Amino acid sequence: MKTFDKIRVGFIGTGRISDLHAIEYLSDPKAEIVALCDMNPALARERAAKWGLDNPFITDDLAALLMRPDVDLVEILLPHHMHRPAALAAIAAGKAVSLQKPMCLSVMEADEVVDAANQAGVPFRVFENFIFYPPVMKAKALIDEGAIGEPLTIRIKSNPGQSKTAWAIPAGASAWRQQVTQSGGGPLAFDDGHHKFALAWHFMGQAEEVHAWISHTTADDGFVFDAPAMISFRFPGNRYGNLEIVYSKDLLLETRHYPQDDRVEITGTKGIIWINQGHGKLGETPPVQLYRDGALTSYTLMDTGWEWSFIHSTRYHLKALREGLPFKLTGAEGREILRFTSTAEESARLGRSVKL
Ligand SMILES: NC(=O)c1ccc[n+]([C@@H]2O[C@H](COP(=O)([O-])OP(=O)(O)OC[C@H]3O[C@@H](n4cnc5c(N)ncnc54)[C@H](O)[C@@H]3O)[C@@H](O)[C@H]2O)c1
Repeated sequence: MKTFDKIRVGFIGTGRISDLHAIEYLSDPKAEIVALCDMNPALARERAAKWGLDNPFITDDLAALLMRPDVDLVEILLPHHMHRPAALAAIAAGKAVSLQKPMCLSVMEADEVVDAANQAGVPFRVFENFIFYPPVMKAKALIDEGAIGEPLTIRIKSNPGQSKTAWAIPAGASAWRQQVTQSGGGPLAFDDGHHKFALAWHFMGQAEEVHAWISHTTADDGFVFDAPAMISFRFPGNRYGNLEIVYSKDLLLETRHYPQDDRVEITGTKGIIWINQGHGKLGETPPVQLYRDGALTSYTLMDTGWEWSFIHSTRYHLKALREGLPFKLTGAEGREILRFTSTAEESARLGRSVKL
């Protein structure tokens, strides 16, 4: 497979999340954002100016961007129903592809994209940032050193609420998330849920059975959340996990991004680890805590801004492209996490547990 030194990237989709993708490309001296594509080219121009880009190619035509020989890698940051066609076109054009999660609307579409990337031999990864969030990386390093013994269970809590400090979310970004034909599933259990299932997979491996209750709550602005939801999973070896999603409409959070917080607790044979913050903060809690042998240790020396998960994900990927390291996530891994997520929604629809 092709390896790279200087990496020239084209962004396909310059919406809300592109700001966080840009950070590492702008700070790596051997990377450059050379092209932007959005159906709203004025937005792409706005981003180019904000990021201080030097005369990038700007277009609303995906094919025009993919035709350019100066684009090595594309970041696909589109609504989910556009992931499959954009990824297939980029693969056919021979570009390295980084495709935002969830990789497609369905596992069937994901199979098609993974097969196309394998056949073309182009570098392909599914973008996932939560496993690169510094508190998550710290917890994983502690677990890998044996700090809690063998992990037995994982509990993940997702808690959207309100925030006076959240970033602005364009109406368009909320609108496509409410159309299942464009989003592929619910905004919390399927879309954001991808990250939570990625965390479960990262710490515990792939689940073998899922049971989910997913209900719905309409917020004051009309946005329908797929919450409260309670999703339980069983991993091989008599190990378990759950994801609890609650929309607390009057819960005030501090955040610079989405008005939501996430917490994780992993219990092992001799200790427990807590990851106490995600998108936002509930007061001044230590980001990571470990209990074992009668003592509680707090770990505070790490970056906790949520943007760091994007920075580290991109930093690792640029290194992987240059040094031929394994991708995180590979297409096959992204597909497995999509299968986990889709199976949870299927379980809620069927009203029974479903084997993966
Ligand atoms: N990793 C994370 O934590 C995270 C967070 C938010 C969003 N995301 C993912 O990022 C992707 C984009 O989400 P967003 O919140 O930025 O959405 P958004 O709606 O803000 O941005 C999407 C952009 O795509 C453009 N677009 C739509 N169709 C297009 C087409 N055919 N050709 C060119 N441009 C087109 C829109 O004009 C818009 O600017 C989604 O896959 C989403 O799940 C990931």
